[in-house]
Amino acid sequence: MNGDGDKRTLVISTIRNGTVIDHIKAGEALIVMRILGIIGSTQECVSVATNVESGALSKKDVVKIENRELKADEVDRIALVAPNATINIIRNYRVVEKKGVIIPPVLIGVLRCPNPCCISNTNEPIPSRFVMQGKKAVCGYCDAVISSDISSHII
Ligand code: CTP
Repeated sequence: MNGDGDKRTLVISTIRNGTVIDHIKAGEALIVMRILGIIGSTQECVSVATNVESGALSKKDVVKIENRELKADEVDRIALVAPNATINIIRNYRVVEKKGVIIPPVLIGVLRCPNPCCISNTNEPIPSRFVMQGKKAVCGYCDAVISSDISSHII
């Protein structure tokens, strides 16, 4: 309910099984969905709410994915674009796990190196490797630095 007593708050249905990604910065749900590969011809049942009233942030986005529990590398990717997100695992309508997201100190196979000559950009079967240094990500092979707009480098 809104502060003025008006019942205008958008409600999306609870889900039976799956993942709810909550507390996404308002307007960034679509980036989260792109990272999870659920834009386009997905078979999954996905609900999205944008600009929902929130106590902690003034507005937030929420993404609910039925029958899918996110893998660790997917959570790492979400951390890069939605550092305040909460991941809720739902089983039989209950929240069985709730965790924040943390950018891990080392990201393997998550970011594409901006250096076209980097060994991780060749035909060698070598996944990219980045080490976080503050807000910068440094390539473990060629020392290339991603210092801004990290999300645009997500593979
Ligand atoms: N949720 C859902 N389906 C369920 C259970 C929960 O879609 N069967 C959603 C809720 O709508 C909410 C999120 O999962 O967006 C977390 O649920 P819950 O922990 O019950 O809500 P809060 O206590 O408000 O969460 P928080 O403290 O993290 O803000």
